[in-house]
Amino acid sequence: MPEGERLQKALARAGYGSRRSCESLILEGRVTVDGEVALIGKRVHPDDQVICVDGKLAPTSQVNVYYLLNKPDGVVTTVFDPQGRSTVLDLVESPVRVFPVGRLDMNTEGLLILTNDGRLAHLVTHPSSGIAKEYVVRVEGDPSPGALRRLRDGVELDDGVTAPAQVSRVSEGLLRIVIHEGRNRQVRRMCAAVGHEVTRLVRTRIGPLQDPTLTPGSSRQLSLSEVRRLMQAVGMSDELTSTMPS
Ligand code: URA
Repeated sequence: MPEGERLQKALARAGYGSRRSCESLILEGRVTVDGEVALIGKRVHPDDQVICVDGKLAPTSQVNVYYLLNKPDGVVTTVFDPQGRSTVLDLVESPVRVFPVGRLDMNTEGLLILTNDGRLAHLVTHPSSGIAKEYVVRVEGDPSPGALRRLRDGVELDDGVTAPAQVSRVSEGLLRIVIHEGRNRQVRRMCAAVGHEVTRLVRTRIGPLQDPTLTPGSSRQLSLSEVRRLMQAVGMSDELTSTMPS
Protein backbone atom coordinates (compact mmCIF):
# COMPACT_ATOMS: atom_id res chain seq x y z
CA MET A 1 0.00 0.00 0.00
CA PRO A 2 1.49 3.41 -0.95
CA GLU A 3 2.41 5.64 1.94
CA GLY A 4 -0.50 8.04 1.52
CA GLU A 5 -0.57 11.81 1.63
CA ARG A 6 0.33 14.15 4.44
CA LEU A 7 -2.58 14.85 6.74
CA GLN A 8 -2.20 18.64 6.50
CA LYS A 9 -2.36 18.39 2.70
CA ALA A 10 -5.57 16.35 2.82
CA LEU A 11 -7.07 18.88 5.25
CA ALA A 12 -6.02 21.83 3.08
CA ARG A 13 -7.66 20.17 0.07
CA ALA A 14 -10.81 19.74 2.13
CA GLY A 15 -10.99 23.50 2.70
CA TYR A 16 -9.48 23.94 6.18
CA GLY A 17 -7.14 26.73 5.06
CA SER A 18 -3.47 26.66 4.14
CA ARG A 19 -1.25 23.69 4.91
CA ARG A 20 0.34 25.76 7.66
CA SER A 21 -3.00 26.44 9.36
CA CYS A 22 -3.88 22.75 8.97
CA GLU A 23 -0.61 21.90 10.73
CA SER A 24 -1.77 24.14 13.60
CA LEU A 25 -5.07 22.24 13.79
CA ILE A 26 -3.08 19.02 14.13
CA LEU A 27 -0.70 20.51 16.72
CA GLU A 28 -3.70 21.70 18.73
CA GLY A 29 -4.91 18.10 18.91
CA ARG A 30 -8.13 18.89 17.05
CA VAL A 31 -7.66 16.27 14.35
CA THR A 32 -8.28 12.55 14.73
CA VAL A 33 -7.62 9.75 12.29
CA ASP A 34 -9.61 6.58 12.87
CA GLY A 35 -10.44 7.85 16.37
CA GLU A 36 -6.89 8.65 17.46
CA VAL A 37 -5.51 12.14 17.90
CA ALA A 38 -3.16 12.69 14.98
CA LEU A 39 0.44 13.79 15.26
CA ILE A 40 2.15 16.13 12.87
CA GLY A 41 3.73 14.33 9.90
CA LYS A 42 1.07 11.63 9.79
CA ARG A 43 0.30 10.20 6.39
CA VAL A 44 -3.24 9.19 5.53
CA HIS A 45 -5.40 7.48 2.92
CA PRO A 46 -8.37 9.83 2.87
CA ASP A 47 -10.62 7.48 0.94
CA ASP A 48 -10.12 4.66 3.46
CA GLN A 49 -9.75 6.42 6.80
CA VAL A 50 -12.05 8.45 9.02
CA ILE A 51 -10.57 11.90 9.47
CA CYS A 52 -12.30 14.29 11.88
CA VAL A 53 -11.69 17.89 12.88
CA ASP A 54 -13.20 18.91 16.21
CA GLY A 55 -15.08 15.63 16.21
CA LYS A 56 -16.73 16.28 12.84
CA LEU A 57 -16.05 14.25 9.74
CA ALA A 58 -13.75 16.18 7.41
CA PRO A 59 -14.56 16.01 3.65
CA THR A 60 -11.05 14.89 2.79
CA SER A 61 -11.92 12.37 0.12
CA GLN A 62 -11.36 13.57 -3.41
CA VAL A 63 -13.77 16.36 -4.22
CA ASN A 64 -14.31 17.64 -7.69
CA VAL A 65 -13.36 21.20 -8.55
CA TYR A 66 -14.28 23.17 -11.64
CA TYR A 67 -12.65 26.37 -12.89
CA LEU A 68 -13.32 28.70 -15.78
CA LEU A 69 -10.26 30.46 -17.19
CA ASN A 70 -10.12 33.27 -19.71
CA LYS A 71 -7.01 32.09 -21.51
CA PRO A 72 -4.86 34.88 -22.88
CA ASP A 73 -2.93 34.75 -26.16
CA GLY A 74 0.46 32.98 -25.96
CA VAL A 75 -0.30 30.53 -23.15
CA VAL A 76 -0.08 26.80 -23.84
CA THR A 77 -2.97 24.43 -23.05
CA THR A 78 -1.05 21.64 -21.38
CA VAL A 79 -0.28 20.47 -17.86
CA PHE A 80 3.47 20.56 -18.47
CA ASP A 81 5.47 22.27 -21.18
CA PRO A 82 8.96 20.80 -21.69
CA GLN A 83 9.99 24.11 -23.30
CA GLY A 84 9.13 25.96 -20.10
CA ARG A 85 6.49 28.19 -21.65
CA SER A 86 3.65 29.59 -19.60
CA THR A 87 0.77 27.11 -19.32
CA VAL A 88 -2.89 27.42 -18.43
CA LEU A 89 -2.15 25.76 -15.07
CA ASP A 90 -0.02 28.78 -14.11
CA LEU A 91 -3.23 30.83 -14.24
CA VAL A 92 -5.42 28.71 -11.98
CA GLU A 93 -4.83 28.58 -8.24
CA SER A 94 -6.29 25.26 -7.27
CA PRO A 95 -5.56 23.33 -4.08
CA VAL A 96 -5.95 20.12 -6.07
CA ARG A 97 -4.45 19.00 -9.34
CA VAL A 98 -6.62 19.99 -12.32
CA PHE A 99 -6.29 19.59 -16.06
CA PRO A 100 -7.72 21.47 -19.04
CA VAL A 101 -10.89 20.20 -20.71
CA GLY A 102 -10.01 20.07 -24.38
CA ARG A 103 -7.56 22.56 -25.76
CA LEU A 104 -7.24 25.99 -27.22
CA ASP A 105 -4.36 26.76 -29.59
CA MET A 106 -1.54 28.82 -28.13
CA ASN A 107 -2.83 31.88 -29.98
CA THR A 108 -6.49 31.32 -29.22
CA GLU A 109 -7.98 33.30 -26.35
CA GLY A 110 -11.08 32.82 -24.26
CA LEU A 111 -12.91 30.36 -22.11
CA LEU A 112 -11.39 27.09 -21.00
CA ILE A 113 -12.63 24.74 -18.27
CA LEU A 114 -10.14 23.13 -15.89
CA THR A 115 -11.20 20.37 -13.53
CA ASN A 116 -10.16 17.15 -11.81
CA ASP A 117 -13.42 15.51 -12.91
CA GLY A 118 -12.29 13.08 -15.59
CA ARG A 119 -15.80 11.93 -16.41
CA LEU A 120 -17.10 15.42 -17.11
CA ALA A 121 -13.97 16.24 -19.10
CA HIS A 122 -14.44 13.14 -21.19
CA LEU A 123 -18.09 13.90 -21.89
CA VAL A 124 -17.51 17.58 -22.71
CA THR A 125 -14.77 16.73 -25.21
CA HIS A 126 -16.39 13.64 -26.68
CA PRO A 127 -17.72 14.33 -30.21
CA SER A 128 -21.10 12.82 -29.29
CA SER A 129 -21.71 15.50 -26.62
CA GLY A 130 -22.26 18.02 -29.42
CA ILE A 131 -21.78 20.80 -26.90
CA ALA A 132 -21.86 24.25 -28.52
CA LYS A 133 -18.67 26.29 -28.57
CA GLU A 134 -18.97 29.88 -29.67
CA TYR A 135 -16.09 31.91 -31.10
CA VAL A 136 -15.61 35.49 -32.11
CA VAL A 137 -13.35 35.36 -35.13
CA ARG A 138 -11.35 38.12 -36.78
CA VAL A 139 -10.41 37.14 -40.33
CA GLU A 140 -8.42 38.64 -43.17
CA GLY A 141 -10.73 40.29 -45.72
CA ASP A 142 -14.49 40.28 -45.50
CA PRO A 143 -16.21 36.93 -46.19
CA SER A 144 -18.89 37.05 -48.90
CA PRO A 145 -22.41 35.69 -48.34
CA GLY A 146 -21.27 32.63 -50.33
CA ALA A 147 -18.31 32.03 -48.01
CA LEU A 148 -20.58 32.38 -44.96
CA ARG A 149 -22.98 29.86 -46.48
CA ARG A 150 -20.16 27.37 -47.04
CA LEU A 151 -19.04 27.77 -43.43
CA ARG A 152 -22.62 27.16 -42.29
CA ASP A 153 -23.26 24.14 -44.49
CA GLY A 154 -19.91 22.42 -43.93
CA VAL A 155 -16.52 22.76 -45.57
CA GLU A 156 -14.20 20.03 -46.78
CA LEU A 157 -11.18 19.70 -44.49
CA ASP A 158 -8.44 17.07 -44.69
CA ASP A 159 -10.20 15.13 -41.89
CA GLY A 160 -13.65 15.32 -43.50
CA VAL A 161 -16.52 17.74 -44.03
CA THR A 162 -17.45 19.88 -41.04
CA ALA A 163 -20.90 19.59 -39.48
CA PRO A 164 -23.36 22.46 -39.92
CA ALA A 165 -22.34 25.54 -37.93
CA GLN A 166 -24.04 28.79 -36.97
CA VAL A 167 -22.17 31.62 -38.61
CA SER A 168 -22.99 35.30 -38.58
CA ARG A 169 -21.12 38.34 -39.79
CA VAL A 170 -20.81 40.87 -36.95
CA SER A 171 -19.01 43.55 -38.97
CA GLU A 172 -16.37 43.76 -41.69
CA GLY A 173 -13.98 40.82 -41.16
CA LEU A 174 -15.57 39.86 -37.85
CA LEU A 175 -17.59 36.66 -37.48
CA ARG A 176 -19.40 34.81 -34.75
CA ILE A 177 -19.15 31.05 -35.25
CA VAL A 178 -20.80 28.32 -33.18
CA ILE A 179 -19.56 24.77 -33.75
CA HIS A 180 -20.58 21.51 -32.12
CA GLU A 181 -17.47 19.55 -32.96
CA GLY A 182 -14.00 19.93 -31.48
CA ARG A 183 -11.49 19.03 -34.14
CA ASN A 184 -7.95 20.27 -33.99
CA ARG A 185 -7.68 23.93 -35.10
CA GLN A 186 -11.14 23.57 -36.55
CA VAL A 187 -12.23 27.20 -36.76
CA ARG A 188 -8.90 28.31 -38.21
CA ARG A 189 -9.02 25.55 -40.82
CA MET A 190 -12.67 26.22 -41.72
CA CYS A 191 -12.00 29.90 -42.32
CA ALA A 192 -8.81 29.19 -44.27
CA ALA A 193 -10.75 26.72 -46.42
CA VAL A 194 -13.05 29.52 -47.59
CA GLY A 195 -10.10 31.85 -48.23
CA HIS A 196 -9.96 33.87 -45.00
CA GLU A 197 -7.08 33.32 -42.59
CA VAL A 198 -7.95 33.86 -38.94
CA THR A 199 -6.03 36.71 -37.31
CA ARG A 200 -7.69 36.53 -33.89
CA LEU A 201 -9.80 33.84 -32.28
CA VAL A 202 -11.65 34.15 -28.98
CA ARG A 203 -13.89 31.48 -27.43
CA THR A 204 -16.82 33.21 -25.76
CA ARG A 205 -19.05 30.30 -24.77
CA ILE A 206 -18.85 26.61 -23.86
CA GLY A 207 -22.36 25.13 -23.76
CA PRO A 208 -24.15 27.06 -21.00
CA LEU A 209 -20.98 28.83 -19.78
CA GLN A 210 -20.31 32.45 -20.64
CA ASP A 211 -18.62 35.23 -18.68
CA PRO A 212 -17.90 38.55 -20.35
CA THR A 213 -16.66 39.93 -16.99
CA LEU A 214 -13.79 37.43 -16.69
CA THR A 215 -10.70 39.33 -17.80
CA PRO A 216 -7.92 37.66 -19.85
CA GLY A 217 -5.60 35.69 -17.58
CA SER A 218 -8.10 35.39 -14.74
CA SER A 219 -9.98 32.35 -13.57
CA ARG A 220 -12.71 31.53 -11.08
CA GLN A 221 -14.50 28.49 -9.75
CA LEU A 222 -17.72 27.57 -11.49
CA SER A 223 -20.80 28.07 -9.36
CA LEU A 224 -22.86 25.08 -8.35
CA SER A 225 -25.56 26.06 -10.81
CA GLU A 226 -23.02 26.39 -13.65
CA VAL A 227 -21.65 22.91 -12.89
CA ARG A 228 -25.21 21.57 -12.85
CA ARG A 229 -26.04 23.19 -16.18
CA LEU A 230 -22.82 21.90 -17.71
CA MET A 231 -23.56 18.38 -16.47
CA GLN A 232 -27.07 18.61 -17.85
CA ALA A 233 -25.70 19.75 -21.20
CA VAL A 234 -23.63 16.55 -21.45
CA GLY A 235 -26.32 14.26 -20.02
CA MET A 236 -24.81 13.94 -16.53
CA SER A 237 -27.74 15.40 -14.60
CA ASP A 238 -28.25 14.36 -10.97
CA GLU A 239 -24.64 13.26 -10.65
CA LEU A 240 -23.41 16.22 -8.68
CA THR A 241 -22.44 14.67 -5.39
CA SER A 242 -19.60 16.80 -4.09
CA THR A 243 -18.11 20.19 -4.75
CA MET A 244 -15.30 22.12 -3.22
CA PRO A 245 -16.30 23.68 0.10
CA SER A 246 -15.95 27.44 -0.08
N1 URA B 1 -10.67 26.27 -33.29
C1 URA B 1 -9.40 26.59 -33.59
O1 URA B 1 -9.04 26.70 -34.75
N2 URA B 1 -8.56 26.79 -32.57
C2 URA B 1 -8.90 26.74 -31.28
O2 URA B 1 -8.08 26.95 -30.40
C3 URA B 1 -10.23 26.39 -31.00
C4 URA B 1 -11.10 26.17 -32.02
